Amino acid sequence: MVPVLEVVRGDITTQDVDAIVNAANSALLGGGGVDGAIHRAAGPELLARCRLLGGCPTGQARITPGFRLRADWVIHTVGPVWRGGDEGEAELLASCYRESLARADEVGARTVAFPAISTGVYGYPKEPAATIAVTTVRSTPTAVQVVRFVCFDEPNVSTYLATVTV
Ligand code: AR6
Repeated sequence: MVPVLEVVRGDITTQDVDAIVNAANSALLGGGGVDGAIHRAAGPELLARCRLLGGCPTGQARITPGFRLRADWVIHTVGPVWRGGDEGEAELLASCYRESLARADEVGARTVAFPAISTGVYGYPKEPAATIAVTTVRSTPTAVQVVRFVCFDEPNVSTYLATVTV
């Protein structure tokens, strides 16, 4: 079944869903942006658990409990750094969405919130990133029933809305 897609403006750390996705780096030891916000909200137990994971390659995903978050789970995925588009960035970004849904399925999460992976510090252009997010979620077999795209700013909401209604 194709999940229902939702687009909201907000902070991913407060979402009432089974799992939230973190746009992490390959060390999985925290950082700025959404990664920093998730670690702050989840508490120090999250970093302690991430230390046990031994990192994560770009395009893959790992899962931990959500600790102090409302969400039961955090799925940590590592998006590509934008290097102009000829270095496999699109496939790696699509892989982040597929891998995250696979981790969600493994624990039975049915509602999953995603940030706009790679579109902050990692510099991926927002419109093509939104297209990849939406088309990949729509074409990936999963038992996840609701995928919520959580946009931190208004322009990204418009970008996602334009993409999901195409
Ligand atoms: N809720 C939802 N979205 C957010 C939030 C939030 N609380 N905070 C930021 N965003 P970024 P990246 C949006 O830079 O580009 C970190 O240091 C933000 O507006 O967080 O994948 C990691 O440790 C943007 O649209 O992630 C890595 O080193 C989107 O989340 C690196 O940054 C992603 O921006 C990963 O860079």
